[in-house]
Amino acid sequence: MTVHALLSARVAAALAAAGAVDAPPVVQLSSKPEFGDYQANGVMGAAKALKLNPRELAAKVVAALQLDGIASKVEIAGPGFINITLADGFLAETVARQQADVQLGAGAHPAQKVVIDYSSPNLAKEMHVGHLRSTIIGDALARVLAFQGHQVLRQNHVGDWGTQFGMLTAYLVQTEQAGRDELALDDLEAFYRAAKQRFDEDAAFADQARDYVVKLQGGDVRVRALWQRFLDVSLAHCEAVYARLGVQLTRDDVMGESAYNDDLPRVVEDLRAQGLLTEDQGAQVVFLDEFRNKEGEAQAYIIQKQDGGYLYSTSDLAALRHRAGRLAADRLLYVVDARQGLHFQQLFTLGRKAAFIPEAVATEHVAFGTMMGEDGKPFKTRSGGTVKLVELLDEAERRAFDLVSGKNPDLAEEKRRSIARAVGIGAVKYADLSKHRTSDYIFDWNTMLSFEGNTAPYLQYAYTRLASIFRAAGPFERHARLMLTEPAEHALALQLAQFPDLIAQVAAETCPHFLCAYLYQLATKFSRFYEACPVLKAEGEARASRLALCAAAANTLKTGLDLLGIGVLEEM
Ligand code: ARG
Repeated sequence: MTVHALLSARVAAALAAAGAVDAPPVVQLSSKPEFGDYQANGVMGAAKALKLNPRELAAKVVAALQLDGIASKVEIAGPGFINITLADGFLAETVARQQADVQLGAGAHPAQKVVIDYSSPNLAKEMHVGHLRSTIIGDALARVLAFQGHQVLRQNHVGDWGTQFGMLTAYLVQTEQAGRDELALDDLEAFYRAAKQRFDEDAAFADQARDYVVKLQGGDVRVRALWQRFLDVSLAHCEAVYARLGVQLTRDDVMGESAYNDDLPRVVEDLRAQGLLTEDQGAQVVFLDEFRNKEGEAQAYIIQKQDGGYLYSTSDLAALRHRAGRLAADRLLYVVDARQGLHFQQLFTLGRKAAFIPEAVATEHVAFGTMMGEDGKPFKTRSGGTVKLVELLDEAERRAFDLVSGKNPDLAEEKRRSIARAVGIGAVKYADLSKHRTSDYIFDWNTMLSFEGNTAPYLQYAYTRLASIFRAAGPFERHARLMLTEPAEHALALQLAQFPDLIAQVAAETCPHFLCAYLYQLATKFSRFYEACPVLKAEGEARASRLALCAAAANTLKTGLDLLGIGVLEEM
């Protein structure tokens, strides 16, 4: 049981003993050290409901509260807050137990099957900054859920279908690439632009492109093969980005729009059979009462176009059914831009209405805001174009290399390059992950690469300090008995003991920024401890205990950063 769960259970039992059965205990971390480590704030609400004096009820609850061996002090404050200070021995045991467990006490029961749809770029073009957030937020969540012991199924719902691919395959033929072994597609973006220009200017080419769309959808072997080759090149571009970002997606996780193609007529038929479809200006749509416009009219969710073509919504319905049915998932996560909010609300509502998903399956749109430039507008190149992800990552590494070279000019260049990779990529990822995902955020090189504040370099640096302590210490027992005597030791152990609660919160709310804030506090508490308590100069059991505490901090920091997909360094 986590510390929070344990305290909540004990306070709930005491509330019940004092007459407030089923009253929520409302246990949370204390806002200030004067208020102890945790506060139970449920008494006020319970007293109000039962029309009792809150201080009197608090006294009864405290009298009934069983925290022997857990708390060293329990106090009533203000109108009826209960302040709890944990016993050093209890904290020491909790930390020791966690450190002996590969999941650091954060295993979740029962384990679920979780589908997580993330990255999911459109393969007609190259990955740009618009794909960064989905890719790294999704990857962090997938790692956290897997760490808890859930079965995680990654689904890269790439855009690999539709009219654009007719144009692109036709252009492969036009540029006489169809017969070549290697496609000259180093620059997908330029290829797309050239194809689009030809499409707009050359009517015969546009006709051919349209003919190719029909052939592609009809399963024409030659066009399908061209299309497949184009996709292979485009996916290879994505995979190069994933590798640089340390993102765990592989080819096996690709389940693009095209994979649902054969299922689309069935989706439409099912909706029709259930009487959910309406014809509206020749198109097949669903009107959902839940979604009305300003005039109070039900809004249409388009399923099939007038010309019979299918849409993004149609393949998402098929994907939804596949994930809940075939994949038998308990929870479906979609890490997609907040601007697609209405689409997902309609998708989930319709999916339930049509019984494509069982009642118990959770569907969540893990929405995120826009990445902004320093001017506060959506992030663009100076000339106003979209920024390719590859270029952004190059710049991150370049800047980090200059930084590392300035700090540590004597290090071999190879070494500085590898540090710069970890720091530069880590900084970009962390800057994103540390913001609340639903807000827009300003992408600012100087802040993210700073060694101070809530940044990746600060955390990576804290880890190198720990690593250097271990090097200087020589061999020691990582699991030596912890003796917490100083306030700074208590504070660090308290932080460590919260790890399982924190991971549960990140997973439940799908918010990686909680983990960032936690790690930042952990690094800060380690720093304070290291200033206040000599480690290497301490003696005997005190030295052993403090080294073991450092080992617990290092292990937790490294694990936490790994869950964010950020590497640590032994030196920098
Ligand atoms: N390819 C889409 C885009 O770039 C994102 C797909 C997200 N996933 C989904 N199942 N709709 O906007």
